[in-house]
Amino acid sequence: MHIRPRRNRKSEAIRNLVEETSLSVKDFIFPMFLVDGTDQKIEVASMPGIYRYSVDLMLKEIEECMKLGIMAFDVFPAYPEALKDKMATESYNPETFYLKALREIKKTFPELCLMSDVAMDPYSSDGHDGIVRDGKIINDETLEVLARMSLAQAEAGVDILGPSDMMDGRVGYIREALDSQGFTDTSIMSYTAKYASAFYGPFRDALDSAPKFGDKKTYQMNPANAMEALIEADLDVAEGADFLMVKPALAYLDIIKLLRDTYSLPIAAYNVSGEYSMIKASAAKGWLDGDRAMLESLLSIKRSGAKVILSYFAKEFALIQREK
Ligand code: PBG
Repeated sequence: MHIRPRRNRKSEAIRNLVEETSLSVKDFIFPMFLVDGTDQKIEVASMPGIYRYSVDLMLKEIEECMKLGIMAFDVFPAYPEALKDKMATESYNPETFYLKALREIKKTFPELCLMSDVAMDPYSSDGHDGIVRDGKIINDETLEVLARMSLAQAEAGVDILGPSDMMDGRVGYIREALDSQGFTDTSIMSYTAKYASAFYGPFRDALDSAPKFGDKKTYQMNPANAMEALIEADLDVAEGADFLMVKPALAYLDIIKLLRDTYSLPIAAYNVSGEYSMIKASAAKGWLDGDRAMLESLLSIKRSGAKVILSYFAKEFALIQREK
């Protein structure tokens, strides 16, 4: 036997030398949940360790994360039912608590990278990402709402907009709206291949944003499809996206790899709420080692080709990294 792969595994020093992939706090975007008010920090029941914060406490949490090296945050708002309507009009009310919070975060920490969510569902009385008429999601009229919300968020100082709605043509429509108003520096991270997934369950609890009827299968992708991700990605590249995102991450590592091998834009992956909660739940039962399972799954996302990882584990990862 001349070839013995085990030689390159014989000590930690050698294993470190031949290690092909490594994670850094710089790879992460930390998704956070915002509620109105002050002095609010409410744990999400289905996401132990993850909270809905009012802006005052969110600023403190962000500051703590920045001390650990996390420099990018994606903020999602949880709206009370009373502020929701069919057209999601609250989404571009300049005085709405989400936009005020984005403004305050960026003003307090100009050096951080602030990402926002563009979709109707947090503000929609139908709980859908688009306008609903006769039980159908109306694509082209939704684009106008998405553009208004994008402009409002850009105006609030957001660095990266994250259209998560999966309407056709939205990246180009938003890009044009931004450019026409002078927001040529505002980036777009497109949710390029966003699948109709069971793994969003805990997120919808966090935001009380579950669809009031039906499901999201007429706009989110069929988990059976890979080639369709190329159609979506071609469009996003042509329409001016700055990042291509795959979501969820772990059940779609092949899609991450496919986009990584096909496009030059940076690939992001969203390690979604259900992927977080699965590990948390089994670790709480003592069924697996939560830290190791976290590190292994984050590593697999990076190894498959994602440069950017949106993960609820971002802070925990940073804490473990610091101890090392
Ligand atoms: C909706 C949106 C969802 C997530 C991010 N934006 C849920 C959905 O499509 O119903 C899910 C994120 C997660 O599960 O962590 N625009």
